[in-house]
Amino acid sequence: MKRYIVGITGASGSVYAIRLIDELIKRNNEVHLVVTGNGERVMKYETGWTIEDLADKYEKGLCYYDIEDLFAPISSGSFKTDGMVVAPCSMSTLSKIALGVSSNLLERSADVVLKEKRRLVVVPRETPLNTIHIKNMLTLSEMGATILPAMPAFYNKPQSVEDMVDFIAGRILLSLGIDNDLYYEWNAGL
Ligand SMILES: Cc1cc2nc3c(=O)[nH]c(=O)nc-3n(C[C@H](O)[C@H](O)[C@H](O)COP(=O)(O)O)c2cc1C
Repeated sequence: MKRYIVGITGASGSVYAIRLIDELIKRNNEVHLVVTGNGERVMKYETGWTIEDLADKYEKGLCYYDIEDLFAPISSGSFKTDGMVVAPCSMSTLSKIALGVSSNLLERSADVVLKEKRRLVVVPRETPLNTIHIKNMLTLSEMGATILPAMPAFYNKPQSVEDMVDFIAGRILLSLGIDNDLYYEWNAGL
């Protein structure tokens, strides 16, 4: 069993995180969830899901923290985790992580993961990108974070939205070092 932090922000695509949490918990991992206020609003708008729905879905494995709770365990590097995923990551939160602002629990947790040299996977969703967005992604990449844009592929010939969501969730799991068959491994017909 491993321990992961999942952060959800107000970018489009909370469905990726919902899928990811499912897969992490299915594999008996501990998930520590933190969601921004805008993350909650956009998630409800896009999927109908609330934090309460998510919390109720799992009997064990999921710990949810209030975004303002800077006393939460994930606020400290002494609380060991195996990494953090911010999915979807808004350009707003991405900029604050890149600058080390740490003004809420999600930003602080990402800051801790970076300072402890743990794995940070950021899943930005915006298009087109301006120069500030690109510079902030470069900053995070230079600090060792994985920038994994929510960009489903088509070479796997997706048949549904679920297939496209699975592709991204699978690539996130792979970035965490978790083998899975949610994404299509290209083998060029071998
Ligand atoms: C329906 C909806 C979709 C949005 N999609 C995106 C998006 O894909 N990417 C993004 O960077 N911001 C998006 N935003 C704007 C963010 O929610 C906004 O910048 C917010 O301040 C982010 O706050 P947070 O990072 O604290 O969650 C969206 C807003 C709404 C209402």
